[in-house]
Amino acid sequence: MPDVILETRDLTKEFKGFTAVNQVSLQVQRGHIHALIGPNGAGKTTCFNLLTKFLSPSAGRILFNGTDITSLKPAQIARMGIIRSFQISAVFPHLTVLENVRVGLQRALGTSFHFWRSEKTLNQLDDRAMALLAEVDLEQFADTITADLPYGRKRALEIATTLGMEPELMLLDEPTQGMGHEDVHRVTALIKKVASGRTILMVEHNMNVVSGICDRISVLQRGAVLAEGSYADVSRNPQVIEAYMGSADNNLAGAHG
Ligand SMILES: Nc1ncnc2c1ncn2[C@@H]1O[C@H](COP(=O)(O)OP(=O)(O)OP(=O)(O)O)[C@@H](O)[C@H]1O
Ligand SMILES: [Mg+2]
Repeated sequence: MPDVILETRDLTKEFKGFTAVNQVSLQVQRGHIHALIGPNGAGKTTCFNLLTKFLSPSAGRILFNGTDITSLKPAQIARMGIIRSFQISAVFPHLTVLENVRVGLQRALGTSFHFWRSEKTLNQLDDRAMALLAEVDLEQFADTITADLPYGRKRALEIATTLGMEPELMLLDEPTQGMGHEDVHRVTALIKKVASGRTILMVEHNMNVVSGICDRISVLQRGAVLAEGSYADVSRNPQVIEAYMGSADNNLAGAHG
């Protein structure tokens, strides 16, 4: 297995003449938590949508474990082990937490693993769902109606469902967005925990999260990579500081407080 799990080469996305992602070449190391950061409008979400195949690039290539996946569909890369964390809306609010994980497992395994459907293995499905809940510290909420879960716990449930698909590479889009301090802390610790034995690429605005758990950071500005390195490196980089100071997004400075 190559050290680089995910690579982009000159990845570019144009919208009617406007270049939102401009020749981005990324290398994500296997086992890393890699963050994509940058001021508002830098192209983070567009880049993420290219990686998850929600958008097709105007130019450039994407490689996963050395295989060109540029023209593959979301379902195809999911089967290869690249899983985007589900949006909260994908969770059924009136089912219990355990039922939601089970539904996720059935959906993930149902088409290719028909043996999961036999009576005999239904219990195994429940066991697997409980094990996933334990992994994200939601065991005590197994029988809770999902709608009644606190916001941060819903994100944990979403991560459990994602883990059910056995990701080799997990893609997280602003996992702590809209959360209060306690939930941010809990979800950050959870990401760190589930990163063991996997690779995570995340878009994240909260610099406390980035500095706390990310091994490597790519900074985007106006669609291009401005800097790369550890948090210590990029947060000292004058160009990065300037990019953040020049925007309304001053979170970078906030991380030191
Ligand atoms: N579908 C689209 N059509 C036209 N322009 C777009 C489209 N999607 C994004 N853009 C533009 O591309 C640029 C990058 O947008 P993007 O959403 O990727 O930035 P971002 O880094 O995620 O910003 P934020 O921090 O605000 O989430 C912006 O100028 C945006 O207006
Ligand atoms: Mg965005």
